[in-house]
Amino acid sequence: MRMDAMPDAFLRYERGSLTLDGVALQSIALAAGTPAYVYSQRQILAQLGRLRAAFAPLAPAFHYSLKANANGHLVRLLVEAGCGCDAVSAGEVFMALRAGCAPERIVFAGVGKTAAEIREALARGVGWINIENADELDRVNRLAGESGRRARVALRLNPALQADTHRHIATGHEGAKFGIPLPEARALLARRDRYANLEIAGLHIHIGSQLGRPDESAAAARIALEVAAEFGLGHLNLGGGFPVAYEESAAVPVEDFAGALLPVLAGQGVGVAFEPGRYLVAEAGVLLAEVQYVKRGGRTVVLDAGMTDLIRPALYGARHPIWPLRQAEAGPEPVQVVGPICESTDVLHPGAALPALEPGDYVAVGVAGAYGMSMVSTYNGRPRPVEALVDGDRWRVIRRRETFEDLVRLETI
Ligand code: LLP
Repeated sequence: MRMDAMPDAFLRYERGSLTLDGVALQSIALAAGTPAYVYSQRQILAQLGRLRAAFAPLAPAFHYSLKANANGHLVRLLVEAGCGCDAVSAGEVFMALRAGCAPERIVFAGVGKTAAEIREALARGVGWINIENADELDRVNRLAGESGRRARVALRLNPALQADTHRHIATGHEGAKFGIPLPEARALLARRDRYANLEIAGLHIHIGSQLGRPDESAAAARIALEVAAEFGLGHLNLGGGFPVAYEESAAVPVEDFAGALLPVLAGQGVGVAFEPGRYLVAEAGVLLAEVQYVKRGGRTVVLDAGMTDLIRPALYGARHPIWPLRQAEAGPEPVQVVGPICESTDVLHPGAALPALEPGDYVAVGVAGAYGMSMVSTYNGRPRPVEALVDGDRWRVIRRRETFEDLVRLETI
């Protein structure tokens, strides 16, 4: 059995049935149907607590990165626990505000903010706008002038560092579309008095997601600190990227990142912020699915969930653990677990250690709380899954399953 792969005791078998915070997942699958995302409120708050404890000497601000999972119930939970929000579109700004985040605690980031989005963010009074290029600095300055407001901005640096992570989620290397190369950032800062409607008060740096090396994060922080000191900037936003364990990649503990970053940042007199997404919600979530068919003599299992519901295996070759809801010894042969989508890349796991399964059995795909539901598509005419939250020993639906009507609702007649 894959108990060893389980992130924490919040997921365990009780009387042969997989439970999350003591609630039998089978009962949620039966009541809510599948595919279904289920999250543990307790586990999300525990992750936030662990992050806070690790960085306590810095007393940083944490801006939850909505892109990981923007369900309003989860955003509200984290906002009520003291987080601000990292939003990368006017849509995410809207969702953060709707979940109760104070506008001044929202950071509006993103590579290609349109004028309409910037106007919207200014009108809403967001706390920070992160700037990704010189044209954008001009644009925000002009739009802030037009709106009669002064905008507080941070420049996003591209430190030309290749982070040790999957190439699709590295962002700090030279030639990446993200951030401003250091020489250009310095040149812009040297003439910052030209931007009458901006308060250029900080720097932003994010070298990637699911990071593998604390020393690289420390190197990035050192670069940001150096530039901040040169120009007297008081705020550093050091991005997200704290890793969690999937099957293909172990996670360096967040305490190791703190161990590398604290000596660099402590006592420097700058305010520090982080933007964790994955770390807060990934492990807390599972995707429940029902076995539809078993073929190739048990070597291929077809689920009712596929790449439209969880795209990470298809897009990044990610390996999420898969557990049967009914406890049994894994068989000798690895099982290919696939979805129903008409794409050969719709393989959730090429070789999961699973027991013999039958149609009607349920499985849970683990570590699915981040970049699962937020990347769902309706390809192949598939309504988006239902989402449920386990809170203590109770659970409730926090987003209903889409209907066929939802699939066509916005088409004009
Ligand atoms: N801040 C910035 C500027 C970012 O670009 C990101 C993620 C974050 C914060 C949050 O990073 P986290 O703490 O979640 O690692 N869909 C991919 C991940 C894309 C990450 C994009 N940016 C995946 O499923 O692995």
